[in-house]
Amino acid sequence: MQPTLLIIDDEPLIQKTLRHHFERKGYRVLGASTASEGISLVRDETPDVVLLDLRLPDLDGLDALDRIKDSQPDGAVIVLTAHGTYENAVEAVKRGAEDFLIKEPGEGNLAAMELRVSQAVERLRKDRIHSYYKQHFRRRASDRELALPGEHPSIRALDGLIDLIAQNPSTTVLLLGESGTGKELVAKAIHHKSGRRDRAFVEINCAGLSENLLDSELFGHERGAFTDAKSMKRGLLEVADGGSVLLDEIGDMPQAVQPKLLRVLETRTFRRVGGLRDITVDVRTITATNRDLKKLVEAGTFREDLYYRLKVMPVEIPPLRERGRDVLFLAQLFVQDFNALLKKRLRGFSEQAQDILMAYSWPGNVRELKNVTERAMILCPGDEILPEHLPADLQGLAGTPVRVSPEETATPKPRRRGSDRFISLADLEKNYIREALEATDRNRTQTAKLLGISRSTLLDKIKRYHLKD
Ligand SMILES: Nc1ncnc2c1ncn2[C@@H]1O[C@H](COP(=O)(O)OP(=O)(O)OP(=O)(O)O)[C@@H](O)[C@H]1O
Ligand SMILES: [Mg+2]
Repeated sequence: MQPTLLIIDDEPLIQKTLRHHFERKGYRVLGASTASEGISLVRDETPDVVLLDLRLPDLDGLDALDRIKDSQPDGAVIVLTAHGTYENAVEAVKRGAEDFLIKEPGEGNLAAMELRVSQAVERLRKDRIHSYYKQHFRRRASDRELALPGEHPSIRALDGLIDLIAQNPSTTVLLLGESGTGKELVAKAIHHKSGRRDRAFVEINCAGLSENLLDSELFGHERGAFTDAKSMKRGLLEVADGGSVLLDEIGDMPQAVQPKLLRVLETRTFRRVGGLRDITVDVRTITATNRDLKKLVEAGTFREDLYYRLKVMPVEIPPLRERGRDVLFLAQLFVQDFNALLKKRLRGFSEQAQDILMAYSWPGNVRELKNVTERAMILCPGDEILPEHLPADLQGLAGTPVRVSPEETATPKPRRRGSDRFISLADLEKNYIREALEATDRNRTQTAKLLGISRSTLLDKIKRYHLKD
């Protein structure tokens, strides 16, 4: 994205020289010859960096600095000063200026200035990413996020495809797959394997956000664009400049936002809400959905032109039930993860329990497998997970022939039905608490934590169910 630089200086020659120099270096340059003109440009144009002369005709330079920082706290101000006025410059830095530079004619000085300005732009970019990450509790990618775990041919092929896509840093991707198949994981893998890995990966869920909210989240808004817009806000597309953005549940994107997204995909430009200026960014867009977009097009809720634009690079993530023995492979991986997390040393699933995992149809896919494994590990007092540690509806599958071929796995197995598998909720709770107590060697504080209830509630229940030892 082209950085914007504002020069506030009343000397025409300085204005002209700096403008010429920075425009050549790829900046968008604005100029003001008075403080008040400069302040209003800061408000309207939100430049990334301001070069501010401390001696201006209409206002004390330090006061101007304060007002600029007030209206644009996430920009950088570099103060320009003449020889012999260091004190003011030092004071300016104390008040939040990025730096100060001595005004001196000459090429060398211009180069030094440009270095400082470009350093400031880089710092702002990092800060913006950092504050986004802080807000969203993001962390750096672990190795796990780089390789897609699994041995099934469909997963190995998918991993290869991810590599190819990663090497084409601008391709727009459409991730398709049932809920819990790992679409988010694949999106992160694409980002972290690509040359964009050191830039931001931002994600936004398009479902459940009103048109206005999604608009301002994605594209940002100018100050005063609507009643609550007290200051300018950059959208995620700006934060993600140079990186990747995941638009999750794209099928649910409000219709009014769809043409704006299409424009971003086609021209890489957009406007902030309430803004007049086109902003150009360099981002890879990854979209994901578990819905049938074609049907949404037919139903008239998804734009056909956007559909065809996204369809260029579709990536299908197979449901877990079609991945053969990867069910066991992933289950074992999760056992290792939860061993570390729960401070346990389980070996894994017993053979019978493995048969059940293989026979189940996993409508919630990998997410469900992960949850089932975690729950079983909490309940399991020994070093091997047995059928009884699995949820009741899975236990009903004991003795079902094991599926091995992918063809066979495509049809979900009928689950046990009828009333015989139900017990009363009170009994269920009692058993569950008993197992949790065993799992923690009867440590009540830990048990309460595991069950997500307070210690006193747990003590009440222990009393009520006569679970005292
Ligand atoms: N291949 C895998 N290896 C390890 N963990 C996985 C794998 N696939 C998915 N997961 C885990 O399963 C959970 C769900 O994955 P993810 O959020 O990527 O699914 P999704 O396809 O985006 O689902 P949804 O459509 O519901 O948003 C996450 O905890 C993820 O870490
Ligand atoms: Mg998801």
